[in-house]
Amino acid sequence: MASLFPDGEGNCRLLDAGAGIGSLSAAFLDRWRSGGFRFKRVSVDAFELDSALIEHLTHILDSYNNRGDFVANIRQEDFIHIAVESLTGDLFSPPIGPYTHAILNPPYKKINSQSAHRTALRRVGIEAVNLYSAFVALAVAHAAPGAQIVAIIPRSFCNGPYYRPFRNFILDHAALCHMHLFESRSKAFKDDDVLQENIIIRLECGGRQGSVTVSTSSDDSFSDLSYHEHPFDRIVFPDDTERFIHAPTSAEQNAIELSPAIRCTLADIGIKVSTGPVVDFRLKSTCATCQVRAPCPYCIPAISAK
Ligand SMILES: C[S@@+](CC[C@H](N)C(=O)[O-])C[C@H]1O[C@@H](n2cnc3c(N)ncnc32)[C@H](O)[C@@H]1O
Repeated sequence: MASLFPDGEGNCRLLDAGAGIGSLSAAFLDRWRSGGFRFKRVSVDAFELDSALIEHLTHILDSYNNRGDFVANIRQEDFIHIAVESLTGDLFSPPIGPYTHAILNPPYKKINSQSAHRTALRRVGIEAVNLYSAFVALAVAHAAPGAQIVAIIPRSFCNGPYYRPFRNFILDHAALCHMHLFESRSKAFKDDDVLQENIIIRLECGGRQGSVTVSTSSDDSFSDLSYHEHPFDRIVFPDDTERFIHAPTSAEQNAIELSPAIRCTLADIGIKVSTGPVVDFRLKSTCATCQVRAPCPYCIPAISAK
């Protein structure tokens, strides 16, 4: 993730929100210390809520503090509340940012519609259904012009109606420059037991949208890394009001993209699909159709045919 940033110079203000023990900041700072960035000075704002991680985080970031050109601000605070208060100009909470860089592996958790996080986010016009999209949206909102954001997040934001406000927010405020896909979801994060399909994205805030680099690797060893460059209209179709984000893995267009006949969603042509009733754990003890028993071998085929 640290290697995805273009080189930079001057003063770098890095955001690491949900920093854990600081592994991502450390990768970024290692690249700087080994000459991979030409920054004169770097400051890091590392937000981490978990008190058990703060000592390790402090220890790791302090190890870069030996030349007088680096400052680490470790903040054991809720990033969402601090970032929202910064945007609303709360008198008692000084603003954060603007950041020139952000490196993020945010928490993944649904945000309930009545929760304090959801209410706070709405105050600044951000509709987020998951912590990860809230973290990325708030990083974009605190970015300096031209800022670079690299984030590893679940792929679920690429489509579906719930993430449409998030897609609109990031595509309106930033250029999508790079997407990295892991071809095997069971291999990529096997040590962490993560079966979530994850994607790494690089955004350039306020940047002009050009072509998008899509790289793939089977897993996190990156041994078979390959790259393709795609025009943006292959990533987000120009006539798609939902702004689904496609991640083509080859240079050739696929059957759906090539077919002028396939341009409608199921809703456009009046078809509703539900897989709910045929998922066994959702079936009540009696079949809702014939009231006999569940799962009912007679009604399930009839329900799925509907
Ligand atoms: C997926 S982990 C990533 C840790 C680290 N960035 C890494 O890549 O190893 C997300 C981290 O966010 C922290 N976190 C969760 N909610 C937070 C919040 N509201 N504000 C700040 N940190 C939070 C968690 O404690 C956790 O350490």
